[in-house]
Amino acid sequence: MTNKPKDWVFTDPRLREMKQDYAAYTEEDFKVWKILFERQIVNLPKAASIAYLEGIKEVNFTADKIADFEDVNRRLAASTGWAIQVVPGLIDDDLFFGLMNNKRFCSSTWLRKMEQLDYLEEPDMFHDAFAHMPMLTNQPYVDFLENLSGLALKHIENKWAIEVLSRIYWFTIEFGLIRENGELRIYGAGILSSAGETKYSLSDEPAHYEYNVRRIMNTPYWKDKFQDKYFIIESYEQLYKSLPEIEAVLEEMVAEEAK
Ligand SMILES: [Fe+2]
Repeated sequence: MTNKPKDWVFTDPRLREMKQDYAAYTEEDFKVWKILFERQIVNLPKAASIAYLEGIKEVNFTADKIADFEDVNRRLAASTGWAIQVVPGLIDDDLFFGLMNNKRFCSSTWLRKMEQLDYLEEPDMFHDAFAHMPMLTNQPYVDFLENLSGLALKHIENKWAIEVLSRIYWFTIEFGLIRENGELRIYGAGILSSAGETKYSLSDEPAHYEYNVRRIMNTPYWKDKFQDKYFIIESYEQLYKSLPEIEAVLEEMVAEEAK
């Protein structure tokens, strides 16, 4: 993997050219987007990270218009240089990390139905767009994502290494909290697309720990219920600067597992 050129992913036969078919969205889709958007946006001024609140303005999301990826891509190009890559849903780990290592964030284009407003088995585009895309305007955040993915690619053949790195992804990109002006705020997309977990994650119910690379890498997670613990960063620079430590702990854990 390390001998391949960085942009190998774009010539991979598994990566199909897919586009968002905006004209295909139905009236129900627009209604679902609007309900989810309006229900969650009111919670965010007091709950979301400043980076997210600035980012959602920068990508220009509104309740009345399902996110249009062409427009998002134009705005991201002028911001951090990232872009959205439409994918059919869950894709192989090497493609997922290979795309992010090339500044492409994967997104689905389908929206949940009215009867699935609160529970989904697989992330839909409301999660991928509303919760993830605003953060792609933050430079240290995307630099972290790009380089974390590069690290994953180096170890892509090793299931244990990917599991351990997924824990970092999970407790930061999906379920991370940040301290801003002395207050807890959310930047994790898994929380930002859930009204229930937004309230819960900031309450006294779950445990809150300071960001700790070694601890996170030794912490398994679950996908089907609220987390019982969250990790708090002090800044997005802190994430980026923790990459050498992530690499060092990873190498240690991989060596230990191989014994
Ligand atoms: Fe996600």
